[in-house]
Amino acid sequence: MRPRAVRKLDPRMPRSGQPGPDPGVQSAAMAIYLDHAATTPLRREALDAMLPFLTEDFGNASSAHGFGRRARAALDDAHQQLAARIGAEAREVVFTSGGTEALNLGLKGAAWAGKARGHRIVTSSVEHHAVGHTLRYLEKFGFEIVELPVDRYGRVDPDHVDKAITDKTILVSIMLANNEIGTIQPIAEIGRRVHAHRGVLFAVDAVQAAAHLELDVEALGVDLLALSAHKFEGPKGVGALYLRHGTHIVVQQQGGSQERHRRGGTENVAGAVGMATAYDLASAERPETGRRLRRLRERLQKAVLAVDGTELTGHPKERLPNHLSVIARDTDGNALTMSLDLEGIAASVGSACTTGSTEVSHVLTAMGYPEEEARGALRLSLGRTTTDADIDEAVLTVPRVVASMRTGQVAVAGDPLGQGALV
Ligand SMILES: Cc1ncc(COP(=O)(O)O)c(C=O)c1O
Repeated sequence: MRPRAVRKLDPRMPRSGQPGPDPGVQSAAMAIYLDHAATTPLRREALDAMLPFLTEDFGNASSAHGFGRRARAALDDAHQQLAARIGAEAREVVFTSGGTEALNLGLKGAAWAGKARGHRIVTSSVEHHAVGHTLRYLEKFGFEIVELPVDRYGRVDPDHVDKAITDKTILVSIMLANNEIGTIQPIAEIGRRVHAHRGVLFAVDAVQAAAHLELDVEALGVDLLALSAHKFEGPKGVGALYLRHGTHIVVQQQGGSQERHRRGGTENVAGAVGMATAYDLASAERPETGRRLRRLRERLQKAVLAVDGTELTGHPKERLPNHLSVIARDTDGNALTMSLDLEGIAASVGSACTTGSTEVSHVLTAMGYPEEEARGALRLSLGRTTTDADIDEAVLTVPRVVASMRTGQVAVAGDPLGQGALV
């Protein structure tokens, strides 16, 4: 038998239980991480808040004894803490296994609950697959899905939403900020239009927006709202659905009576605590972090757009402060991200890549980009842990790599990264 390789520990990472640097801080040998739209590192405070519930306070929140009661109290607090930050009540928050599950629960649950009243659901043509594919699935059961067009910047026109709603419409689902292009939708205005029609529910995918935009369910006028912890330095595999009190959904996961009978299954107490902690901190720090990231993003944007044949995608102003997305004509986004990876910069493409075949981004095509141009998409997304030094380096490297790809000086074959669908 071959001896097992001994994994070298990063000397900057603390051993368990010992104080140490933020786990989000990258070691010097690591690449510069500019893919925060895909996921973010777990922040130290969230990990610290979670650890007791992964160790000594491991109880099942449904148990009556002391272990269970401690877990229940922590879970109740997590509901309270998260709800308070989005202007909701604790009972309106359902913890799930992530954004995808929150959207499945909300959209399928609301669709089935409203079936007797109507079968029409209105959405946009630039939603994440967690919404798009869920609604396509509902189509098989007789629901009519109306996909609204977007403008050149990926924005939905509130008038189009208004006009698409008929007396058979039960639900409208529009994302707050787009994961590929960073464009922010006029959600509060759309919410007003939706609620001018009695009985129509408004669902919002706020997964990509949550780290960077203040969320107030009243101001936004939403009935359902999906969040995912790993986009704001919380743990992966945890999310939440805000469900306005009185909104009826058909439960999608049968089992126990957890989460007020809305999601069966033993609760992920540590995950919920980590999510609530991370969101609390992200909300408190948002104005300052946003200003800093916007400044860094603008520096990088200026440097990248100085390269011939590049164009910003998404809205120039109404976009997430951390988000830069471009098209570099006559390049291939996959090859570009691979070249950047070799140069120590972690970025991603604007098109989804499925096994063997490259699919062009449905977002960019909906915005009117021809397929050949959409193939040259590149996304660089910053996060709280991005430093000035990271951007100093990126400002030198990214334009050089993009320019050399455009002139054909770098040829990368295949897809060694084996990238999956764009997240
Ligand atoms: C806009 C948007 N919605 C939904 C999701 C799905 O969230 P999760 O990864 O928690 O399932 C993502 C993840 O990338 C996203 O960007």
